[in-house]
Amino acid sequence: MIFHSSFLVLTATTLGSLIHQSVGQAPYAKSYAPAYVQCPPNIEWVRPATGLSKPESAWVQGRKKVVLAALGAYLERLHIPDFNVSNYLGHMHASNFEDVPIMGLAISGGGWASAYTGTGALRALDARLPAAVQHGTGGLLQCMTYMSGLSGGSFPTVSFAVNGFPTADEIVKIWKPTIDRLGANQTTQYAATFTDMFKDLGAKMEAGFSVGTADLYGLIFGYEFTPGVFNVTLSGVVNETKFKNHEMPMPILQVIELTNSAAELYGLKVPVLNDTTYDLTPFEFGAWGGSASSFTPTQYLGTKLKNGVPMNESACVVGFDGAAYAMGMSAAAWNLWAIEAFSNGTEGSFSKAKRSIGSLMNHLQRREEIVPPATITEIDGAFQKALNLSLTEIAYAEIPNPFLGVSSASPYTQTATDLSLVDGSEGGQTIPLWGQIQPARKTSFIVAWEDSNDAHPYEWNNGTNLYNTYLAAKAANLPFPIIPPVSNFISHNYTTKPVFFGCDKKLTTTRDSRAPIVLYLANAPYSSYMNYSAGVNVMSPQQMNDIFVNSFNLVTQGNGTLDAEWPVCLGCAAIERSLEKAGMMTPAQCKSCFKRYCWDGKVGVGSNKTVDLSLVLDPKVGYKDWLNSHMYWNASLSHGNAV
Ligand SMILES: *[C@@H]1O[C@H](CO)[C@@H](O)[C@H](O)[C@H]1NC(C)=O
Ligand SMILES: *[C@@H]1O[C@H](CO)[C@@H](O)[C@H](O)[C@H]1NC(C)=O
Ligand SMILES: *[C@@H]1O[C@H](CO)[C@@H](O)[C@H](O)[C@H]1NC(C)=O
Ligand SMILES: *[C@@H]1O[C@H](CO)[C@@H](O)[C@H](O)[C@H]1NC(C)=O
Ligand SMILES: *[C@@H]1O[C@H](CO)[C@@H](O)[C@H](O)[C@H]1NC(C)=O
Ligand SMILES: *[C@@H]1O[C@H](CO)[C@@H](O)[C@H](O)[C@H]1NC(C)=O
Ligand SMILES: *[C@@H]1O[C@H](CO)[C@@H](O)[C@H](O)[C@H]1NC(C)=O
Ligand SMILES: *[C@@H]1O[C@H](CO)[C@@H](O)[C@H](O)[C@H]1NC(C)=O
Ligand SMILES: *[C@@H]1O[C@H](CO)[C@@H](O)[C@H](O)[C@H]1NC(C)=O
Ligand SMILES: *[C@@H]1O[C@H](CO)[C@@H](O)[C@H](O)[C@H]1NC(C)=O
Ligand SMILES: *[C@@H]1O[C@H](CO)[C@@H](O)[C@H](O)[C@H]1NC(C)=O
Ligand SMILES: *[C@@H]1O[C@H](CO)[C@@H](O)[C@H](O)[C@H]1NC(C)=O
Repeated sequence: MIFHSSFLVLTATTLGSLIHQSVGQAPYAKSYAPAYVQCPPNIEWVRPATGLSKPESAWVQGRKKVVLAALGAYLERLHIPDFNVSNYLGHMHASNFEDVPIMGLAISGGGWASAYTGTGALRALDARLPAAVQHGTGGLLQCMTYMSGLSGGSFPTVSFAVNGFPTADEIVKIWKPTIDRLGANQTTQYAATFTDMFKDLGAKMEAGFSVGTADLYGLIFGYEFTPGVFNVTLSGVVNETKFKNHEMPMPILQVIELTNSAAELYGLKVPVLNDTTYDLTPFEFGAWGGSASSFTPTQYLGTKLKNGVPMNESACVVGFDGAAYAMGMSAAAWNLWAIEAFSNGTEGSFSKAKRSIGSLMNHLQRREEIVPPATITEIDGAFQKALNLSLTEIAYAEIPNPFLGVSSASPYTQTATDLSLVDGSEGGQTIPLWGQIQPARKTSFIVAWEDSNDAHPYEWNNGTNLYNTYLAAKAANLPFPIIPPVSNFISHNYTTKPVFFGCDKKLTTTRDSRAPIVLYLANAPYSSYMNYSAGVNVMSPQQMNDIFVNSFNLVTQGNGTLDAEWPVCLGCAAIERSLEKAGMMTPAQCKSCFKRYCWDGKVGVGSNKTVDLSLVLDPKVGYKDWLNSHMYWNASLSHGNAV
């Protein structure tokens, strides 16, 4: 996350007086503060985490019908030899849609980098883009029931959902990535000054809610990803036309709860590997296990509940789940940024924490400036002066604990007044798979996009996060593919080309077909070196285009030039689990695909060499040559590569 200290034009003292004069008068202040309403009757305020909620279950059933039609069209276009699409569709209908594959897209954390490159991947799967259809990958997006995101991956996940699921090219027009949200000198529909954003925070605080950096950053993200719609909530997605018509995937965000088991550094808490991951969806907020094992309706998040009922029947809360705040919660990594700054980057060895620790200082030295310590201090100072809030009060997203007194919750969570939530990637799983792999969701195929910049120093990816999800799934006894260690990702080039895990059901944690097949796609240079820093938030139209083309080339394997069969292989993996349910044979071409693209279960010696990549489609063009014709980034910065 980059921002430049010069943008903080206000002194903290000015902020303080502004807050006191004019709370409520900022353009969006009234809508950003949640509101109190009379509690509605007949609400199940808290439910145990067994199965899907009734509304999600009904929605998924509706989605399957729409998916089946899209899947039929997609499969017809693939022309898989010896595969009878109508026969397949007939089986799906005959199962009363039970066997229709449930698929998902997961976009990793990694700031604006992952938000933009992941959107490029989504675009290459979209049937609405003629080039994607022409090259055989378009249409898979229309078959997806879930789309999950955390941290930077939450930006597209929320943005597509609350903006009515436009195309990627349309959504870029909404985002206007040429505007710098971290340095706005005036408040418009598309960007705001820090002063005005602090006014919004003041309004929420005056209404009786905790505020902190998750709110501030949520607003910054909101001006880009949900512009002009600060009164739009995540729960409100259920009332959108495309969602009601089951014509878009359901968004899932991930956050992590800090508990008394959290580690502490410089007075700030950091989750340990087993701290509980929470789901935030339009329907519900809660966790499938761990410290909550319960869910509450997202629409009334912020309401003070005790023993599963409102404490005050006249004080239910709506509007707490603003789309902007939802992104702010999912990307609330202030604790790590501050620790990084206070330790001068020396806390890089804190292995349980996410990529940011260590990597931020790498950015500072090697890339562009990123959260310079002075800025951390300035933001903290602004909160202190303007709102009288200390560092520990603003470091986490603090929300009234809906699970107070709930017996299925852990002893800590049963008694905590507020839940302290942080960036979903802080547990070491930067790809938001946890929500999708819960058995209740029955996913059978997941496209995992990773751009978490965790292979230092060149900020590609190395499989660590996917491996961590495998370890966590195994420990929790969740069905998930077995994932080899990082050294094998590097030696097999899984950091540059598509790979499926779990094709063979024996290569899963439960050794049966309950685990989804996971397609791992790591951001890699195909036509452009897009290992730019996670915090670069401004993109020219040319840069954005190059990002999209690079992701397109990766997802389509250079429009099939690397392997003309690739689109068929993708389709094969997408339906493999459902073929088994339908009692249909895996077509011969699919089997040959799986030999090439599925991990075979053999763990080799591997390699730990630095991930330093060249353009897959044009290996002779090294970074420096490429930079000569793409003067985007500061030429003195080394992105490295062997060429
Ligand atoms: C495909 O299956 C359908 C229905 O199951 C059948 O009517 C049709 O003849 C089959 N097509 C071919 C080419 O086998
Ligand atoms: C203020 O921001 C606008 C829009 O981002 C920009 O066009 C203008 O040059 C900026 N003015 C100053 C003085 O920085
Ligand atoms: C949000 O605010 C806009 C503009 O004030 C209004 O038109 C719209 O109906 C509001 N939407 C919701 C969900 O309240
Ligand atoms: C959806 O719309 C209905 C009807 O207007 C309304 O009662 C309900 O509160 C809305 N749901 C959400 C989550 O906003
Ligand atoms: C997390 O793991 C630690 C160390 O293994 C253990 O002491 C602790 O009880 C675990 N916490 C939870 C909530 O499972
Ligand atoms: C309940 O909430 C209402 C509305 O916010 C407030 O006026 C009332 O004082 C509250 N009652 C108690 C007992 O806190
Ligand atoms: C970080 O660097 C600053 C300035 O060089 C120094 O004052 C401070 O003691 C250092 N902190 C740590 C934890 O090393
Ligand atoms: C600021 O907060 C502290 C405790 O958090 C409190 O003691 C103090 O009175 C507050 N100052 C102001 C000016 O409200
Ligand atoms: C892989 O990434 C992890 C997480 O950032 C890092 O700790 C490790 O050193 C990397 N290993 C290689 C070989 O790149
Ligand atoms: C991985 O990529 C490198 C560089 O393109 C190549 O030399 C090597 O043979 C590849 N290894 C595998 C296992 O594909
Ligand atoms: C693949 O097609 C896209 C869309 O037409 C284009 O932008 C891209 O340059 C093509 N890639 C290759 C390797 O030809
Ligand atoms: C790679 O690193 C891992 C973890 O540090 C180590 O266990 C493994 O032996 C290394 N493999 C190679 C080939 O160096």
